[in-house]
Amino acid sequence: MKKFIIIFLSILFAVITSGCSGKTEINETVKNEMRTAAKGFTSKLKNILVPNLKNGGPVKAIAVCADTAQLLTKNYAEKTKLEIKRVSLKTRNLKNQPDAFEKEILIKFDKMKVKNELVPETEVFETTEIKGEKVIRYMKPIITQTVCLNCHGDDNQINPEVIKLLNEKYPNDLARNYKEGDVRGAISIVKLLNN
Ligand code: HEC
Repeated sequence: MKKFIIIFLSILFAVITSGCSGKTEINETVKNEMRTAAKGFTSKLKNILVPNLKNGGPVKAIAVCADTAQLLTKNYAEKTKLEIKRVSLKTRNLKNQPDAFEKEILIKFDKMKVKNELVPETEVFETTEIKGEKVIRYMKPIITQTVCLNCHGDDNQINPEVIKLLNEKYPNDLARNYKEGDVRGAISIVKLLNN
């Protein structure tokens, strides 16, 4: 009898863990590909941003965060066949506004931050469909660091010259008054499943 119970429980466990929700399993290779792309994107941006801040100051660096980010997005898409971008609930550039899925996850990240549950490993994978195509989506929080406050902090932290430039270039700028440790946004990647 005991044996049957054990067999029954094993089958039940196998069914549950194999995901009876009908979602496609995402294999580790694909996960790692998306993780690496996100890391590469973030570090590349920061590697350009920090020296520019040091040498040219925030006014020069603004061009980096602005133009380089959009350009990187384009280059990465061509090179890796992944659609990669930065999104936020409080955007500076309207081009970085989240879609419904991204918005939901960004809200989740913010809630996790409040509950102190956000860790460096925090990430979300999901298989879904976009315009009839099966895709894998990946999101990773972007955390505000001290250096970011030069352009995303409060009026005392942002140089007046920078404030002037931001006001001119981004009349709808919401990406201010952040504090160190806040979720500034997320890296969002979409990969076609049959690619
Ligand atoms: C020199 C000024 C400057 C600094 C420093 C800076 N940013 Fe930005 N950031 C910008 C500008 C300008 C944009 C608008 C980019 C665009 O047009 O796509 C932006 C956009 C973003 C976005 C895209 C969402 C949005 O608001 O449009 C994220 C995410 C972001 N920054 C995160 C960071 C993080 C994290 C840091 C620190 C590591 C940082 N930024 C440092 C100027 C800066």
